[in-house]
Amino acid sequence: MKLLVTGGTGYIGSHTCVELLQAGHAVVIADNLSNSSSAVLERIARIAGKAPAFHKLDLRDAQGLQALLQRNPVAAVMHFAGVKAVAESVADPLKYYDNNVNGSLTLFAAMREFGVKRVVFSSSATVYGAQAVSPIGERAATAPANPYGRTKLMIEEMLRDLCTADPEFRAVALRYFNPVGAHVSGLIGEAPQGTPNNLMPYICQVAAGKLPELRVFGKDYPTKDGTAIRDYLHVTDLARGHVQALDYLERVPGFSAVNLGTGRGTSVLEMLQTFERVNQVRVPWKSADRRPGDTVITYADPALAGTALNWRTQRTLEDMCRDAWRWQKSGLAD
Ligand code: NAD
Ligand code: UFG
Repeated sequence: MKLLVTGGTGYIGSHTCVELLQAGHAVVIADNLSNSSSAVLERIARIAGKAPAFHKLDLRDAQGLQALLQRNPVAAVMHFAGVKAVAESVADPLKYYDNNVNGSLTLFAAMREFGVKRVVFSSSATVYGAQAVSPIGERAATAPANPYGRTKLMIEEMLRDLCTADPEFRAVALRYFNPVGAHVSGLIGEAPQGTPNNLMPYICQVAAGKLPELRVFGKDYPTKDGTAIRDYLHVTDLARGHVQALDYLERVPGFSAVNLGTGRGTSVLEMLQTFERVNQVRVPWKSADRRPGDTVITYADPALAGTALNWRTQRTLEDMCRDAWRWQKSGLAD
């Protein structure tokens, strides 16, 4: 199948391009490189043994998108492109509504014009309300707590409406829990700009001596060690989920939302200690106040992904820590 992958040079997109190419698909990437580099293209090709095509394009450029789809008849779209920093979305909501919602609207309109009727969309567990009780199933109420999360839910709703309007249109929104780690080759991974917000890249930079210590946000949560619990999954497992979602769309009409997570919760301290043990490095840390807006315990019920997509995670927390550290040490993460 020939696919358009928006945001394909980014963290999750690049890993998914590898899996798609290895599964025999042809890949055309559209990315404006606002949070990624074209240097990743050659590394994707080295891992997969096949190169993706690349077009530097902003999704809000309707004419550019139309020209791209005219030249490249694709059977489906994998839609990763978007901005994703929760705090920035609170400070600058219009950037998020414009980039994520407007960008998606422009993309879906171009897809309609060129008769492309399959889309796999990068959604997030952030669409669930803070009150959701873990394990969180797809039927849990949605009530995102910030503009970033609201853009994800709006795009899901757009896709749901498109599926209602056109019975041939099919969409699956994959609600990721906490993707971490890097490709086992050490050639691609997450390259955050500036000081990382997320736990794993922060741990990596502390371990590498780039940051002095980790602040563990919250020490008296009602959990076994007082720190917050998340469902971390390996980015390569997540990428495989997208290949499975493509097969699923061949079988199942309409709109679906599917969680991608392990179903296991890990505390901040467990993650830290696993990273130190597996990689034989020290990660200095200190307790700090709770981070505003954080949930206490968030992990997936991944049963639907198992039955519908025939997908379950294969990689362990140890794999995530080992692969993240290999990528950090490669020097390519900077
Ligand atoms: P990323 O920033 O590494 O990748 C996003 C890519 O999209 C980047 O390469 C960026 O240059 C590109 N992009 C952004 N806006 C664009 C636009 N208007 N036009 C064209 N390209 C554009 O982020 P990621 O972590 O790989 O996330 C991919 C998707 O998954 C995002 O939609 C994100 O919201 C979603 N998601 C990520 C996480 C996570 O923890 N990383 C969790 C849940 C959902
Ligand atoms: N944490 C620390 N210190 C840090 C960074 C994080 O203690 O320096 C803690 C957080 O407080 C939280 C846990 O580590 O308890 C995980 O934090 P992340 O920032 O890595 O992940 P979140 O679950 O907070 O956020 C992620 C994505 C968001 C998304 C959210 C819900 O980054 O984009 O999941 O799906 F909105």
